[in-house]
Amino acid sequence: MPELALLGGAKAKRKPFPEWPQYDENERRALNEVLESRIWWRTPGTRTLEFEQAFAKFHGARHGIAVTNGTAALEVTMAALGIGQGDEVILPNFTFVATASAVLFANALPVLVDVDLETYCIDPKLVEAAITPRTKAIIAVHMGGHPADLDRLGEIARSHKLALIEDSSHAHASEWRGKRIGAFGSAGTFSFQSSKLMTAGEGGMIISNDDHFERQARSVHDCGRMPREWFYSHFIYGSNYRLSEWQGAVLNVQLGRLDEQTRRRHQNARLLDKLLGAIPGITPQKLGSRCTRNGQYAYIFHVNSKEFAGISTEQFISAMNAEGIPNQASYPPLHELDMFRNGEYRKRLAGAQSTEDHAFLRQKFPHTQRAAWETVWIPQPALLGDEEDMHEIAAAIAKIQRCAKDIAAQSAAPARAAH
Ligand SMILES: Cc1ncc(COP(=O)(O)O)c(C=O)c1O
Repeated sequence: MPELALLGGAKAKRKPFPEWPQYDENERRALNEVLESRIWWRTPGTRTLEFEQAFAKFHGARHGIAVTNGTAALEVTMAALGIGQGDEVILPNFTFVATASAVLFANALPVLVDVDLETYCIDPKLVEAAITPRTKAIIAVHMGGHPADLDRLGEIARSHKLALIEDSSHAHASEWRGKRIGAFGSAGTFSFQSSKLMTAGEGGMIISNDDHFERQARSVHDCGRMPREWFYSHFIYGSNYRLSEWQGAVLNVQLGRLDEQTRRRHQNARLLDKLLGAIPGITPQKLGSRCTRNGQYAYIFHVNSKEFAGISTEQFISAMNAEGIPNQASYPPLHELDMFRNGEYRKRLAGAQSTEDHAFLRQKFPHTQRAAWETVWIPQPALLGDEEDMHEIAAAIAKIQRCAKDIAAQSAAPARAAH
């Protein structure tokens, strides 16, 4: 009888992980109140406004602007900072496409740099080396919830007079030196899409302590309007990025659970550090000493295939899923995406910038390559489980290691002729 679930054996995971999204009577009541109030639109409503204020305060910021999603949060931020044609924005090559596409949406060039080997966050040394007279901003991504080096990035941004944006879509409630992330620079952006640490299916937020930035961003997200002015006056270029009252109401309830859930995710992740770190060939994402709490959008670990009979990352992921442990592959390096390879991204640029050589397309990015193709992600809902769940994750990986040769043998076997 085979041992691996992938080959017909029993699953390592016996009891189910907690379901996601989580909700209770409070979401039901909040949604019903919106329904019966007949105020479903944020403009005359109070729910989204209350949520903006509560979310900003939670992250130590004076201002919060709720928007339709995390991509929109970055797009509005670019517009509010006046980033446009001819400008450059430095960001990590290892991130979701939205971090770069928001820069292109502003008709500026995303300049891609490599990440730290152990935390998978943007490498400040490479940021500094990539600065040119056209650079206007740096976008740090708090990868998987681990904050980028906000000390060094803050210094670089200040000394070169650049905006620092924290793409915090993975990092609600994460802390850097005991202070919640998001308002260390000009702005922090968040996503409330379904997989995120709190959710309304879709949604986004921009937080900031900069009054001028807030005024611009709020106007951009609401068709160029300005507070207390006539509804049909439009002072700057803007669009409609407003969040609905339904989402504001649900997110306000979700925010009430975030602190406790973060504590649980962080604690379980530290147990996994211990359990998985003891398995040869598994290297968990490093927790730097200045990261005092990791929001843990995911539990990320590197798999050295040599310790697993040479099986591929995809085979490892399939074996884990078969054992009942939800897990997935990582983001590909941005510069390998079709739009960068085939030159489509240049259509967003103007003048010399649209035809000139972009050195990042020829660079090697060894740490991004390693993170992109050799790490495995366990999504955050699993971290809401208990200690037994964490032990079952470790047991599943140990089992895959024990039986990896069976997977390797299967893939080495000649394919049977099709009938
Ligand atoms: C790092 C990062 N930035 C931005 C986004 C965009 O968020 P949304 O999907 O809400 O547009 C995501 C979403 O997955 C993300 O992971």
